[in-house]
Amino acid sequence: MKVVLAKSAGFCFGVRRAVEMVEQLLDEGRTVCTLGPLIHNPWFVQSLEARGARVVQSPAEVPPGSVLVIRSHGVPRSVYTEAAALGLEVVDATCPYVAKIHRLVEEASEKGAVALIAGDPEHPEVIGIRGHCGKAFVFQDLQELENITEKNPYLRDTPVVAVAQTTFHAKEWLNCREFMKRVYTNPIIFDTICSATSIRRREAEKLASQADAMVIVGGRKSSNTAKLHALCAAHCPSFLIEGATELPREALAHAGCVGVTAGASTPACIIKEVLNAMTGLENTDNIDSNENESNAE
Ligand code: F3S
Repeated sequence: MKVVLAKSAGFCFGVRRAVEMVEQLLDEGRTVCTLGPLIHNPWFVQSLEARGARVVQSPAEVPPGSVLVIRSHGVPRSVYTEAAALGLEVVDATCPYVAKIHRLVEEASEKGAVALIAGDPEHPEVIGIRGHCGKAFVFQDLQELENITEKNPYLRDTPVVAVAQTTFHAKEWLNCREFMKRVYTNPIIFDTICSATSIRRREAEKLASQADAMVIVGGRKSSNTAKLHALCAAHCPSFLIEGATELPREALAHAGCVGVTAGASTPACIIKEVLNAMTGLENTDNIDSNENESNAE
């Protein structure tokens, strides 16, 4: 069996930055509270907890003397206000690409624009963006955008600013853009999909189209990992695992070539563990790193 590791597998720039910020605070002996799990990886969150980091759900839970870390997804403006009112020290690890979206919608909202956000309304990043807007609508696809427009016909002639969740599907975003340009009088549209995601997805799809099976390493609660899995599954049998112990050994036993990729919040050590476990599988002869694609980071 040949194993090919996607070059773009693992932490993206924003997640790596957030993790390094927390690790530095822990190295300095600070007591750290992260607002929600730092990444969607239970093993990694536990390893941070073992070093003294605590996950809290609101600034009010942060004990005196601790640092509150905002994770890469970002948070609504109200969280900063609440933390300031409590006198908390805040370390902001919001990904700079997400922080830019906050600035864009904030500035447009101040000028009276209605925000149109393409994304999952339940996702923390979208909740964060929504919390930097005045009036806003969230839609998950073109159909939802059409419905919103039909129910709120005033939007057609109102100043609107449109942004997308950084991990939004590129083709769906293009359809939504075209609709807004056609139907709305003067929409301001910002392309805010992060290239780290599209590069990872493109590479995963290419690998899946060439491999007999794919292994996707990542947290089950991670939306970007779930999307990677769905993309790969359209091409070949694909398995989402959180770690080496979940490797589907029987299913892979007869595969000639297995591709491996990982979500944006999968630590390098877990990917390495999976690769090491794969070398223990019968018939594995070599592991290649896919050099055909480069990461934008
Ligand atoms: Fe930032 Fe892009 Fe990662 S927006 S958190 S670098 S996927």
